[in-house]
Amino acid sequence: MMMMFRNHVQATSSTVLAMMMTRSLRYSSSSSSASAASAAASGAVERMPKFLVTGSTGQLGVQLVSLLRSTFGAASTLATDVRLPTDQNMLNEGPYAFLDVTNGDAVRRLADQHEATHIVHLASLLSAVGEANPELALRIGNEGTKNVLEAARDCEGGSPRTVYAPSSIAVFGPSAGKVAGDKSHLMPSTVYGITKVHLELLGAYYRKKYGVDFRSLRYPGVVSATPGGGGTTDWSMDMLMYARQMLSDKAAGKTTTAIPFECFLKKDTFLPYVSMDDTLNETVKFMSASQPPQCTYSVTGLSFTPEQLHESIRRHIPEFEVTYNPCAVRQKIADSWPDSCEDSAARRDWSWNPAVSTADALVDQILFHEDADDAGEQNLQKATIK
Ligand SMILES: NC(=O)c1ccc[n+]([C@@H]2O[C@H](COP(=O)([O-])OP(=O)(O)OC[C@H]3O[C@@H](n4cnc5c(N)ncnc54)[C@H](O)[C@@H]3O)[C@@H](O)[C@H]2O)c1
Repeated sequence: MMMMFRNHVQATSSTVLAMMMTRSLRYSSSSSSASAASAAASGAVERMPKFLVTGSTGQLGVQLVSLLRSTFGAASTLATDVRLPTDQNMLNEGPYAFLDVTNGDAVRRLADQHEATHIVHLASLLSAVGEANPELALRIGNEGTKNVLEAARDCEGGSPRTVYAPSSIAVFGPSAGKVAGDKSHLMPSTVYGITKVHLELLGAYYRKKYGVDFRSLRYPGVVSATPGGGGTTDWSMDMLMYARQMLSDKAAGKTTTAIPFECFLKKDTFLPYVSMDDTLNETVKFMSASQPPQCTYSVTGLSFTPEQLHESIRRHIPEFEVTYNPCAVRQKIADSWPDSCEDSAARRDWSWNPAVSTADALVDQILFHEDADDAGEQNLQKATIK
């Protein structure tokens, strides 16, 4: 079932992935002095892109690693993290290594060993988890990003590696207003947001000073049918997984639970989101575009409140009930973020164009077309029991 989703992403991404492949074919070889000499003579040698992905066992990493491997070959992508994936496919399908991004030597060594042309830097502590442990969030966010950028600039014998590292709407604080974008004031109120402002600024610095091709997208809440990593928008995935469980119970002839789903944000909390499918497709498109004028772009797919998502789900499950029990920490974070984002620069410069723009379309995609991966299935129980 997961293959359906992966194939869908792969099919819609094939053009941009082909573009990426073409663009990525020119890299100075780093493996030997002979090839370095030949690279120097010809300007470059041709080889396939190779990816080192940090934080790869999280919500985004599992899907992105799978997409990269199915497109560029199993050996193209070295998945790394400080924890093992619950999805065995990641271990079976290609290389995996333990990597703590706060260890700069290890980041560089693995990037060199894998001859990575790209580092996809996903390791992070998300907003709510970061507020519970600000010191660790700073270490992973700030030191980890510096280590990745250093490994990118100091590429053994070759030109700098490309770095793709997501930012977040957490860079905005209350002063950004309710519609925030690339020109908005950045005064985040969370430690997570502070690490993301740091990431954007340091990446731009490395691009200017050392020629590292650094790229970043400010994602809103990324919605999939798998559990989130401790962010403020995780409620949306929890609600959708609860609905999926009810649907599968009904299909199996089981009596569905009468326990209402409990939402940790207020019912009228507007926030911006993007579907996982759009995130993967559009991220790969962004990575494959010839170097865009800006390092960082604000992007969004749609905005909705918990009440609106609930209403969309009730089109299919009229008996689906929700109670609201706001979590003080996460509600405060949500209230400091914009309702929606202005993404005209991304649309203009590299054709950001997400397909899902309504809550109904998102619900239909997640309930009927996208299937949870193994990790999601294993964690379904955890996510639905409050
Ligand atoms: N998911 C979203 O809605 C969303 C929104 C905006 C931005 N982002 C960004 O996208 C990226 C991926 O997000 P995600 O949702 O997959 O996060 P996640 O929390 O699910 O995964 C993060 C991963 O980082 C790993 N990690 C933690 N400390 C580490 C360390 N010291 N070294 C190496 N790995 C470590 C964790 O084990 C985890 O697997 C993050 O940078 C996040 O800030 C995500």
